[in-house]
Amino acid sequence: MRVKIAASILSADYGHLASEVEAAEEAGADMIHFDVMDGRFVPNITFGHGVVDALRKVCSLPFHVHLMVADPERQVKNFVSAGADVLVFHLEASKKPSSTVRLIKRLGADAGVSLNPSTDLKRARGVLGEIDDLLLMTVRPGSAGQKLIPSVLAKVRDARKAILSCGSGASITVDGGINPETAPLAVEAGASTLVAGSAIFSRGSVKRAMRDLRRSISRINRTW
Ligand code: DX5
Ligand code: ZN
Repeated sequence: MRVKIAASILSADYGHLASEVEAAEEAGADMIHFDVMDGRFVPNITFGHGVVDALRKVCSLPFHVHLMVADPERQVKNFVSAGADVLVFHLEASKKPSSTVRLIKRLGADAGVSLNPSTDLKRARGVLGEIDDLLLMTVRPGSAGQKLIPSVLAKVRDARKAILSCGSGASITVDGGINPETAPLAVEAGASTLVAGSAIFSRGSVKRAMRDLRRSISRINRTW
């Protein structure tokens, strides 16, 4: 299985989002990652489903939408209708994770759950068999350009074991502080999707940045 790279537009130029997304697609990104922040679950506010809808018209890559919002169940319908292919919500923010997962799937998208760095993996146990993606935050949610928290790599390893042992086909996504130095560590630990924002959009050339990231994981000996 090839490791996927999801380009996070959180670090893109908001004045030229369409061309930034096109550049990521041309450079070989596998998905576009949307960081939706509501000023409640995290202090910052980013954008809503209107941006997903607008970019859906200029990009054919799968859209991976990461809801960092309170009461995520209330947003599911809007984001799936706007074009989210994978919709991820935070377990810390959800009162009814199983029914939210089922709602996302019923509406036709893949469902994912996310855990903050300090949240125990056990919290995901109840939904592990039903989800398509487990997103482990490798920085505190809320802003781009932070350093990966190394202790989360042990959680990635445990998540890979748990997923293998329950026979789930869920991907493991890591999000935050991913660059050519940290990407190999995350893949070695068990990550199958890497989200990168600054490492793709803040380096001058999206093409070169994607190439460097892809190269950094090309020789990893995976045991999973
Ligand atoms: C942080 C977001 C990330 C963010 C990562 O709350 O969930 O997706 O874009 O940014 P970098 O890659 O700069 O750490
Ligand atoms: Zn994210």
